[in-house]
Amino acid sequence: MNPEVVRTSNFVTDAATFILEQARFALAERGEFRLALSGGNTPRPVYARFGEIARDLPWERVRFTFGDERCVPPNDSKSNFLMAQESFFAPFAIPDKSILRLRGELDPPLAAQEYEDALALLATQRGEKIYRHDLILLGMGDDGHTASLFPGTIALEEQVRRVMANYVPKLDSWRLTMTFPLLNQARHVLFLVGSGKDEKLIEQVLAGDVQFPASRVRPPNGQLTWMIDA
Ligand code: 6PG
Repeated sequence: MNPEVVRTSNFVTDAATFILEQARFALAERGEFRLALSGGNTPRPVYARFGEIARDLPWERVRFTFGDERCVPPNDSKSNFLMAQESFFAPFAIPDKSILRLRGELDPPLAAQEYEDALALLATQRGEKIYRHDLILLGMGDDGHTASLFPGTIALEEQVRRVMANYVPKLDSWRLTMTFPLLNQARHVLFLVGSGKDEKLIEQVLAGDVQFPASRVRPPNGQLTWMIDA
């Protein structure tokens, strides 16, 4: 299925509204909303706006996971958790039990295994073989990476594990990331692409150029939307 592409000059509000609509639908259909958060910079204002417009949501029935995390403590300025904490979790008093944090402070393979096991337990508790997100938020880097699936890295080829520690040579650092098997299990994936991203890269990724990891997120039994800040 071809991705839906939305170009908007009202990016932050449109993105937040999209997430809220997905939340209401999932809560009505299944009584819970499973949302995976993206890191980086683009999502920060979107999370803040989402908190503002979604105050009435039953947060105890929402489960927040993270598509990836840097291998740093949760109070490190590079932490994706810290970005979500500052922009959304803390200001809107999201209950801790609704948040499943990727523990970047741990030894990377241990942190990945811990997260994999936690998601597997949640899936098993609901009679599922693999945890299925209602919505996964993702971004795209200037090299076409998404989550922490960078070009030329080991995690790109993983077909079994759902969460991996992934060494990224260009950053000379470890990352924790969901893998394509888990990402592509989602009911819906929303790419949030901020202004200033290379238009040619966007077109190549949307055309399915597999040299760019972002192009390989195509949930076979889900929907894919690219929201681009026009
Ligand atoms: C991260 C993100 C990463 C991000 C892209 C785009 O940990 O950095 O998960 O995949 O989404 O690098 O980042 P921006 O949205 O800030 O451009």
